[in-house]
Amino acid sequence: MRLDSKRIVITGAVDNIGKAAVQAFIAEGAKVVIGDIDTERGTKVAEEFGPSVKFVRVDVSDETSVENLIGDAVDWLGGLDVLAQNAGLMMSGSILDFDTATFDRLFAVNVKGLFLGAKHAVPHLKKSGKGSIINTASLAAKRGGPGLTLYSASKGAVISFSSTLAIELAHHNIRVNTICPGWVDTAFNKPIIDFMGGETEQMSKVSSMVPLGRQGLPGEIAPLFVFLASDESSYMTAQAILADGGAYST
Ligand SMILES: NC(=O)c1ccc[n+]([C@@H]2O[C@H](COP(=O)([O-])OP(=O)(O)OC[C@H]3O[C@@H](n4cnc5c(N)ncnc54)[C@H](O)[C@@H]3O)[C@@H](O)[C@H]2O)c1
Repeated sequence: MRLDSKRIVITGAVDNIGKAAVQAFIAEGAKVVIGDIDTERGTKVAEEFGPSVKFVRVDVSDETSVENLIGDAVDWLGGLDVLAQNAGLMMSGSILDFDTATFDRLFAVNVKGLFLGAKHAVPHLKKSGKGSIINTASLAAKRGGPGLTLYSASKGAVISFSSTLAIELAHHNIRVNTICPGWVDTAFNKPIIDFMGGETEQMSKVSSMVPLGRQGLPGEIAPLFVFLASDESSYMTAQAILADGGAYST
C-alpha cells in the first residue's frame, strides 16, 4: 500500500494512460477523483472502480470548471495530496494548414489547463504540508516530427512550466514532475497517424525509432504515476521522466 490514504485528483483519466494510472493508484490504497470532459465514460469508469473513485466533469481549459473540480474533490477526499494533470489534446497538421483557433484550443487544454489546475490545487497541497504535482508531457516535447509543431510546443511548455513551478514550490515541500511517454498504443494518436499516412507507416516509424521495437502500453506508464505520487520519490522534483522505449536516445 504505497499510497495508503493519499488523496489524489487526476484529470484526463476515463481511458488509456489515465485510467491505468487510476487503477494503479487505488491498488496502492489511494482515494481518487477523476476529472474529465467525457461525462459518459467518466461515470462508467467511476462505477467500475467502486467506492474509492469519484468522477467530476471538468473542462480543464475553463477556470470556473477547474475551481469546481478542485473544490468538489477536496470536499469528498477531505484534503489533497496529489494532483496528476493528464488531460490532453493531440492535433496534427502542416504549419500551413493550422489555424489560430487550433493553436488556441490546443494550448488552452495542454498548457492553460495545467496552470489553472496548479493555481487552484496549490493552496490545498500547502495545507497538507507536502504534495506532488504530476504533469503529463510527451517525448514529442523533446523530439518532435513532421505534423507535430503545435503539439510538441504545447508539451515543451508543460515541461518548462512544471520545472519552474517545482522551484517555486519546493520550500512548501510540494514536488512537481513531468512524465514524458513515447509512442503509447491509444486512439489519442489517430491525428498524427493519419498525417503520417496510416498505421503501416506509423509502425515502420516506431520500429526504426524505438530501440525496444514497439509502442508502450498504458499499464507501462502507470507505475511512474504511482512512484511520483508516493513518498518513494520524496527527493525528486523538477524532473521530466521519459518512458519511451529508448526513442529519445536514437
Ligand atoms: N498515447 C500516446 O502515445 C501519448 C504519448 C505521449 C503523451 N501522451 C499524453 O498522455 C495523456 C493521455 O493520453 P492518452 O493516450 O491516454 O489519450 P486519452 O485520449 O485517453 O487521454 C486524454 C484525456 O483527456 C481528456 N480531455 C481532453 N480535453 C479535455 C478537457 N478540455 N478537459 C478535461 N479533459 C479533457 C479526454 O477526454 C481524455 O480522457 C495526454 O496528455 C497525452 O498528451 C500520450
